[in-house]
Amino acid sequence: SPRARVVSGMRPTGALHLGHYHGALKNWLRLQATHDCFFFVADWHALTTHYEQREDLEKNVYDMVVDWLAAGIDPERVTLFIQSRMPEHAELFALLAMSTPTSWLERIPSYKDQIDKNRELATYGFLGYPLLQAADILIYKAAQVPVGEDQAAHVEVTREVARRFNRVYERPVFPEPQALLTETARLPGLDGHKMSKSAGNAVAMRDAPEVVEQKIRTMPTDPQRVRRVDAGDPARCPVWPLHRLYTDEATRAGLEQSCRSAGIGCLDCKQPLIEAIQREQAPWRERADDYLANPKQVHWILELGTERARAVARKTLREVRAAIGL
Ligand code: ADP
Ligand code: NA
Repeated sequence: SPRARVVSGMRPTGALHLGHYHGALKNWLRLQATHDCFFFVADWHALTTHYEQREDLEKNVYDMVVDWLAAGIDPERVTLFIQSRMPEHAELFALLAMSTPTSWLERIPSYKDQIDKNRELATYGFLGYPLLQAADILIYKAAQVPVGEDQAAHVEVTREVARRFNRVYERPVFPEPQALLTETARLPGLDGHKMSKSAGNAVAMRDAPEVVEQKIRTMPTDPQRVRRVDAGDPARCPVWPLHRLYTDEATRAGLEQSCRSAGIGCLDCKQPLIEAIQREQAPWRERADDYLANPKQVHWILELGTERARAVARKTLREVRAAIGL
């Protein structure tokens, strides 16, 4: 049987960090082995919350695609493209809007939360973004959508939109996609809080080895371990959750024991973590260097992906127009 189709997008917020890798990209790498993957740069979605930040957008798109490829996303197996090069998504978005009740969008929990926090988000585009997401997914008739727990409500809207369209126009145009719940680690940043670019606590996927070293060396540790001779407690140390992800159990057991007995200092403890991150990054940097030296190649990968995506999107749109009577 053919591989089940999966559609997923990422907003271009610039160079990706280790949180993006462990929280999203690693899952894409798994999926590309088993599924028919359509992965896209969701630049319109970036505009739903950052419509005024024009100047960075193009660079952010390019940097992110390079990060995907650097991580090992395989352009021969995966269809890669940029959302804004696919006006077909916008046409479907407009047509789906006709039969979608506004209340379905207004009741999404994240919508209310966010506009309460930031009135500038009270735009038509921000209200409509889950419907645009539905169009992104339905236009390829995705069987599955990989989502974290917090995005499950969006897939539910996509399913409702598909069901309603099929019923209103009396044609089974859209299959209802299944949420593919992905359990991913929430990677802590340099301050122990969730790693995020805006928090300034991130290690970028392509940070140079010496930058990684400097960032980890200056990380705070157990605040109660003031002097080298004080015993520490990994449970209080922001470095420890990173060790859990990056260091093998045996090494970790040794570090924990030496921390509790003040046998080693915090810099000693950080060293294997620094090396593990640098090891993880080495193949990324190597692949990224190839692509950065050859921007035309990135361009062609996206051209080819756009062409493949467009063929599918146009076919769906023909069915949609026929169903509506256009
Ligand atoms: P968006 O706001 O569009 O979700 P983000 O940059 O916050 O963009 O995240 C993109 C993807 O990376 C999401 O799947 C998100 O869950 C994941 N991600 C971001 N930061 C982390 C992190 N620190 N740990 C795990 N996953 C993360
Ligand atoms: Na986010």
